Amino acid sequence: MIFSHLVRVFPQILVRNSLHMKVIAIANQKGGVGKTTTAISLAAGLAKLGKKVLLLDLDPQANATSGLGVEADSSIYYPLIGEAEMLDKVVSTERENLYIVPSGMDLSGVEIELARKDDHLTFLREILAGVRKNDEFDYCLLDTPPSLGVLMTSSLAAADEVLIPLQCEYFGLEGLAKIIHIISQVKESGAAPDLILGGIIMTMYDGRTNLSNQVVDEVKKHFPDQIYERVVPRTIRVSEAPSFGKTIFEHEASGSGARAYMAIAHEFLERQGDVPVD
Ligand SMILES: Nc1ncnc2c1ncn2[C@@H]1O[C@H](COP(=O)(O)OP(=O)(O)OP(=O)(O)O)[C@@H](O)[C@H]1O
Ligand SMILES: [Mg+2]
Repeated sequence: MIFSHLVRVFPQILVRNSLHMKVIAIANQKGGVGKTTTAISLAAGLAKLGKKVLLLDLDPQANATSGLGVEADSSIYYPLIGEAEMLDKVVSTERENLYIVPSGMDLSGVEIELARKDDHLTFLREILAGVRKNDEFDYCLLDTPPSLGVLMTSSLAAADEVLIPLQCEYFGLEGLAKIIHIISQVKESGAAPDLILGGIIMTMYDGRTNLSNQVVDEVKKHFPDQIYERVVPRTIRVSEAPSFGKTIFEHEASGSGARAYMAIAHEFLERQGDVPVD
């Protein structure tokens, strides 16, 4: 199958590394697979476990910003074009330990502006060097747009690890092959030689369908160490939470979506060799 080939050709993207503040890109060039939902829910879960988390909303759609109920008059636009400090644009989400640099309308044309830069692959890594040095946050999560544009590729190049949310459906598998290839290309470009595939999170799992199970089995077969043990079920509550500006932990704390994302937050920390703060 395609994956056996990819793992043979690019084994180096599966090796773990260690740093201080970890930058995690949540990426999949395919749209609507649960990137933003995972970014919000993992960030909120880690914050509940006592980790100080900064979420960067790098998507002009600004779904992570609105999904957290954040209304801000400044956005990540000026830091991205080098006219403001990233740390100066951090705003509180009004939740303990959870901070965001919001996206906004002004981001809609930024891809074109950024593409003109000579360092369009590495500029975000350089911007984040300042945030890393400041060392105020334990984790910096990047919510990325569904494209292969500059915002997405520079996010990969800025990250220590990529987390791939993958919808439990056939086209999800095709998308997985593609993003693994892109991660390898970013590594080989020299922009992020230590970038690794930190995990694959299966989203919108429907246990009643054979297809969901087949897709999970297929990913498990080829990425046994990368696939997260806990899958995220498809639930109405998860899909409606952002319309209230609430995380799943606030919208339905005891539901299956909240339980899954909390288990994933624990699993994430374990994989980092990190532990919750009491
Ligand atoms: N576990 C789930 N159960 C039900 N609906 C979900 C679940 N996860 C995500 N959704 C819904 O699916 C849609 C796509 O999810 P989301 O916005 O997180 O994906 P995305 O990959 O960020 O999309 P885009 O590529 O447009 O940025 C949203 O309407 C979201 O509420
Ligand atoms: Mg999104």
